[in-house]
Amino acid sequence: MDKNKNAIMTLHEIAESDMSETEFLQAVENNMIPLKEFFTYYKCAIMEIETKFRVLNQQFSINGESNPIEFIQSRIKSYGSIFRKMIDKNIPRTLDSIEKNVSDIAGIRVVCSFVQDIYHLADCFLSQDDIFLIEKKDYIKNPKPNGYRSLHLIVEVPIFLENEKRLVRAEVQLRTIAMDFWASLEHKLRYKKDLPQNKLDMLTDDLKKCADQSAEWDIRMQDIKNIIENDQV
Ligand code: GTP
Ligand code: MG
Repeated sequence: MDKNKNAIMTLHEIAESDMSETEFLQAVENNMIPLKEFFTYYKCAIMEIETKFRVLNQQFSINGESNPIEFIQSRIKSYGSIFRKMIDKNIPRTLDSIEKNVSDIAGIRVVCSFVQDIYHLADCFLSQDDIFLIEKKDYIKNPKPNGYRSLHLIVEVPIFLENEKRLVRAEVQLRTIAMDFWASLEHKLRYKKDLPQNKLDMLTDDLKKCADQSAEWDIRMQDIKNIIENDQV
C-alpha cells in the first residue's frame, strides 16, 4: 500500500487499491477510513432494538405470563467481514451502498424457549410504529435445505442524534434454544475447511437429521406447554 500514512481514504479509493484485508483493518484502526462514526449508528440501533425486546419481555410478566425471552445476543459485524462481503458480493464501495446492501451490520439474536413466543414477539415488535420492515425470511416455516431454522427480520429503526434523526438497518434473528444450539454447531462445521469430503457429507447428513428431530421436539414441547396452560384455566 503506497498511501500516505495519515491520508483519509474513501471507500472508492480502497476499491481501486490492491489493499489486503489486514491493511484495510489497519487503516480503519488508524482512522484513515471513516467507518468508526458510521458504526456508532449501528451500535445505537442495537440499543434501541434490544430495549424494545426487553420491554416486551417485561410486559409479558406483568400479564402473568412467563417471560418469553431466554436471552438476547447482539453483535456488530466486524470490519473484516464487511470488507470480505464488499469483495465477495461486488458491492460498490460507498458508505451509502454499504448501508443499503449489507443488512446485517447490526445483528440482534433473540432466543426463546417456544416457537409461538417467537411469532408473538415478532408481531408485537413489527406493529410498533417506528419499526419499518424491509424483509422477512421465515426459515421456521421454510427451513433451509441443510435444516437451518430461524425467523429473520430486516428492519429499519430511527435513532435520534444531536441534530438529526437517522433510519438505521438491522437484522433481527428470532429462534428457539434448540434452533440456536443446532445453528452454533452447524456454524462450526461450516468453518472446518480441512475435513475430507466423505466425512463432511456424513456430518452434514447427521446435522440435517438432528435439525428435523429438534424441530419435532420444538413442536411437542409447545403442545405440552399449551395443554398445561389450558388445563389451569
Ligand atoms: P448473508 O448474510 O450474506 O448470508 O445473506 P443472506 O441474504 O443469505 O441472509 P440469510 O438470511 O440467509 O442469513 C443471514 C444470517 O443468518 C447469517 O449471517 C447467519 O447468521 C444466519 N444463517 C443463515 N443460514 C444459516 C445456516 O445455514 N447455518 C447457520 N449456522 N446460520 C445461518
Ligand atoms: Mg449475514
